[in-house]
Amino acid sequence: MASKPEAGAPAPPATLPAEPLLRLLGGTGSEFGTRTFLVGGPVRDLLLGLSGPDLDIAVESSPDLVGRALAERFGTRFIYHRRFMSGTVQLADGSHIDITRTRTEEYPGPAVLPRVRPAGIEDDLVRRDFTINALALELSPGSFGRLIDPHCGRLDLARRRVRVLHDASFRDDPTRAYRAIRFAVRLGFEIEPGTLALMRAAIREGFPGLLTPERVLYELRLVCAEPLVLPMVEALLREKLLHACFDSVAERGLLRRLQRLAGIDPELLFVFLLSRLSLTDRFPVTTGERDAARAVREFDRLRPRLARARRPSTVHRLLAPIPGEALEVLARTEAAAVRRPIRLYLDRLRHVRTAVDGRFLRSLGIRPGPAFRRIIEKVRAARLDGRVGTREQEIELGRRLARRQGNG
Ligand code: CTP
Repeated sequence: MASKPEAGAPAPPATLPAEPLLRLLGGTGSEFGTRTFLVGGPVRDLLLGLSGPDLDIAVESSPDLVGRALAERFGTRFIYHRRFMSGTVQLADGSHIDITRTRTEEYPGPAVLPRVRPAGIEDDLVRRDFTINALALELSPGSFGRLIDPHCGRLDLARRRVRVLHDASFRDDPTRAYRAIRFAVRLGFEIEPGTLALMRAAIREGFPGLLTPERVLYELRLVCAEPLVLPMVEALLREKLLHACFDSVAERGLLRRLQRLAGIDPELLFVFLLSRLSLTDRFPVTTGERDAARAVREFDRLRPRLARARRPSTVHRLLAPIPGEALEVLARTEAAAVRRPIRLYLDRLRHVRTAVDGRFLRSLGIRPGPAFRRIIEKVRAARLDGRVGTREQEIELGRRLARRQGNG
């Protein structure tokens, strides 16, 4: 049942962006005898005058048939997951349309994924996280553009607040604490006081700690991809949400350093954040991310030596074992005295190749091994520090070291 719009509550614009596409979606649904709805985030954003490229569509039956018919129409692919009653139509421009069967959810316990059963649109909206996301816009011919807002989501959009639908929301799904912070900061909304109290109680009682590491990392990746990542992480720390999900959080200087990374690659932000969290083996990050985060964490030991390093070859020796991603993080988060040598290494030193390489040493009859590597490193150090300047001098030094090697 659509509730009456409150004074000041946003209404859908007279013409919808992508209206022909939305009408096509509704028309296709009705060919298969189902009502079709635009649901959740896209409706919220539409009412706020924001627009995203992706569409979330809900149908009350036959999501597989509707999805396949649409994909045929667009000449693209439809990937359907029967178990989740949900599929995705990929569009040529890289955007996608998610098509999901309307459902009801039942939570068997706190922080456990819900049991899902087919249901109508009203049940589908009541299972959702916040009133501003519990909105549907009907796309079916005859009812096109009808807004369904049983939980006064429009009023909360107008009042600019994030509000849950019921008291057990954060307990059922503690990822909603991350989501509440993400939406509030992104949209410039407040978390409504009652909702904030429920969120804090859920955190105090440790429910976020029951989430699988996978789900926690998923939320952190989403935060890192947001333009307003800094105030979001600030709120995650203030509300002790990270503390509820990790055994320890190294907070000192975290925000100051994070600020220097804001607006950069989300992956670097993610690595930096990981470096501040106690990450057990249970957390499914890639080996590259784990190694980079560890290197950032362990940089404390290297910092004084790097700050003292005078010769480029010393800088090279200290930094060469550190993964590139970690160096990219450190080159931005460290203080200038250390940032400078890291930048020098990334921009120049690491690209230096000398004429004395593996092929050259093999031609002198030296077999690959530790000595082999030592010669290459010594010549490179001489080159980096300006002790040899030309190719001939490099080769001469290489020969001399190789001879000494042969004699030794
Ligand atoms: N949802 C929910 N509880 C969650 C995750 C999602 O109720 N823990 C519902 C919300 O109605 C949400 C919709 O599923 O709007 C789609 O989820 P998602 O794509 O994560 O949210 P969006 O609102 O589309 O967020 P974004 O703007 O970040 O894409």
